[in-house]
Amino acid sequence: MRLAVLASGSGSNLESILQALATHPTPPAQVVLVASNRAQAFALERARQRHIATAVIAKPTDGAALEALLLEHRVDVVVLAGYLKLVPAEVVRRWSGAILNIHPALLPKFGGAGMYGHHVHEAVLAAGDTESGATVHLVTDEYDRGAILAQAHVPVLPGDTAQSLGARVLAAEHELYPRTLLSFVEQRAKRAS
Ligand code: GRF
Repeated sequence: MRLAVLASGSGSNLESILQALATHPTPPAQVVLVASNRAQAFALERARQRHIATAVIAKPTDGAALEALLLEHRVDVVVLAGYLKLVPAEVVRRWSGAILNIHPALLPKFGGAGMYGHHVHEAVLAAGDTESGATVHLVTDEYDRGAILAQAHVPVLPGDTAQSLGARVLAAEHELYPRTLLSFVEQRAKRAS
């Protein structure tokens, strides 16, 4: 399976995925492309260091351009890892059921437009919830609404700030995302064979 990872930021989730693939005895997939809407995203640097092809998505709303990029790299599965733009409808259609995202909360709570980064953790704290977590889900053309594949739970601790809660959730993401992605691609490969 050929994976493309789309990321807007530091790419720590990308890193956890690359490490999981690198240490897997028989990796069921390889990352063939890392693309970002931000030319300075550290995720691109992580890819370059490993000689993985990179691309800058100049106009994230241009579905035809993104589709052409993914086709050029013969991408089977698209992995969103901190990608802050909506995936255009033509890409969602063509890779239907094959686009994954990770969200730093227990969806369906605390999802939707504007719910990203510290905004999510601030909302969890303001709601007084005693737990939060991370969700891996399939991507549809609405933010954070596709089928849930897996979740990890973390406690909200007394005295938590958005930063301390965010760090605890991110650590859970780094375990949850590679594990869920690997089992997703393994099942997909089995179905295809
Ligand atoms: C993570 O919290 C992820 O859930 C969210 O964006 C953040 C990305 O972090 N979608 P990184 O770029 O993988 O370090």
